[in-house]
Amino acid sequence: MTVESVRPQSPATPGTSVLREPPLAQGALPVLGHGLRLVRDPLAFMSALRDHGDVVRLRLGPKTVYAVTTPELTGALALNPDFTIDGPLWESLEGLLGKEGVATANGPRHRRQRRTIQPAFRLDALPGYGPVMEEEAHALTERWRPGETIDCTSESFRVAVRIAARCLLRGDFMDERAERLSVDLATVFRGMYRRMVIPLGPLYRLPFPANREFNRALADLHLLVDEIVAERRASGQRPDDLLTALLEAKDDNGDPIGEQEIHDQVVAILTPGSETVASTVMWLLQVLAEHPEHAEKVRTEVESVTGGRPVGFEHVRSLTHTNNVVVEAMRLRPAVWILTRRAVTDTALGGYRIPAGADIVYSPYAIQRDHRSYDRHLDFDPDRWLPGRAGNVPKYAMSPFSVGNRKCPSDHFSMAQLTLITAAVSAKYRFEPADGSDDSTRVGITLRPHNLLLRARPW
Ligand code: HEM
Repeated sequence: MTVESVRPQSPATPGTSVLREPPLAQGALPVLGHGLRLVRDPLAFMSALRDHGDVVRLRLGPKTVYAVTTPELTGALALNPDFTIDGPLWESLEGLLGKEGVATANGPRHRRQRRTIQPAFRLDALPGYGPVMEEEAHALTERWRPGETIDCTSESFRVAVRIAARCLLRGDFMDERAERLSVDLATVFRGMYRRMVIPLGPLYRLPFPANREFNRALADLHLLVDEIVAERRASGQRPDDLLTALLEAKDDNGDPIGEQEIHDQVVAILTPGSETVASTVMWLLQVLAEHPEHAEKVRTEVESVTGGRPVGFEHVRSLTHTNNVVVEAMRLRPAVWILTRRAVTDTALGGYRIPAGADIVYSPYAIQRDHRSYDRHLDFDPDRWLPGRAGNVPKYAMSPFSVGNRKCPSDHFSMAQLTLITAAVSAKYRFEPADGSDDSTRVGITLRPHNLLLRARPW
């Protein structure tokens, strides 16, 4: 299952041309530069940048940051080894979540870590996760009572955390832990985003309630991971799963990897695996409520594929419209809406000079909503992913899992569970907004609705 289109385009960096300085994006204020506009409305700000150039300079206070605005150049950036994972986003993630996990490592350590985790995400490993994905998707619908208000934030977190933890760490992942993990992650990600966009340094160490809550959640997240590792060790079991692979991994000298690396690796897999999937499930529920015609079409498809039986993992490949609904929801509301890289050497992008040490930023949200890449770019239109039309989408204009050596290892795993969840909930219920629901976009490290409350009505 893929969400990338494949129209080849010309090379991004002409080797012979004279390199130019990228233009400064318009609207910089004295001292603050573009910072205020970025903080006030980051999605609108990032979406407008392509009008200023393919690569533009931004002033964030005293710092210059480069923004890449075309699909072609975001692909070139992600595939070019001159750019690594670094910069403010990653530094703040590292400081809080650990320095030794796969999501923040570079170079040989990163390659070695990817080799360790990759087998757990291979296509041929997925059917082994089928029973857990099915059980969790159906359990979600069984928890809901007809007409009752569903708190979509906690329900989406619960299913995402439980699937990731039960499939990859094979733990008996009870609700209490899923709940703890969701609450911790929500608090930690909220605090991290605040620390990234408003870097007030020492003020975050003062004993304000928000700082205390943040520290408590972060400590509990690490404690939870220690509990998971300790429990596995105490059990003496070595099931064929990602946790066993991590516990038995060797470094480049053939020695066992250290305790800190094992810990950071579990954090680096659980955290992106929960927040991203949970946010996407929230948007999928929102889409089903906002577009009853698509909810109906998904239900009809599920019924015709399953013949009225409970939907299972084996049906996922045949659920083409459901899959297209998932892809289209991810196009308009990508969980990962901003990504950064750092240039490790003087280099070039699209004929523009990028100096060593420069931070580069781009927004999958802006790229995936660009009218230059998509007809009726803001319409929710799952049929744009039908084979006859998907080829019109420029290469890299739809890469919610990124490309290159940092591509999300979990693209197939995520698509399978998202399709299965969408199918399972749509087969049983249609959705309508409940009182107090607020589906406006909340911008944080991921994008999700502020407070989505829905009523589930049986068909
Ligand atoms: C990396 C998106 C689900 C684990 C990434 C990246 C993106 C992404 C865009 C690349 C970041 C970059 O280029 O800098 C998503 C989306 C998901 C999802 C949209 C679901 C809707 C998951 C799940 C897991 C996971 C379920 C694990 C259970 C990771 C890890 C990395 C990563 C470990 C770091 C890879 C590396 O740096 O080599 N994800 N992800 N993701 N994702 Fe996902």
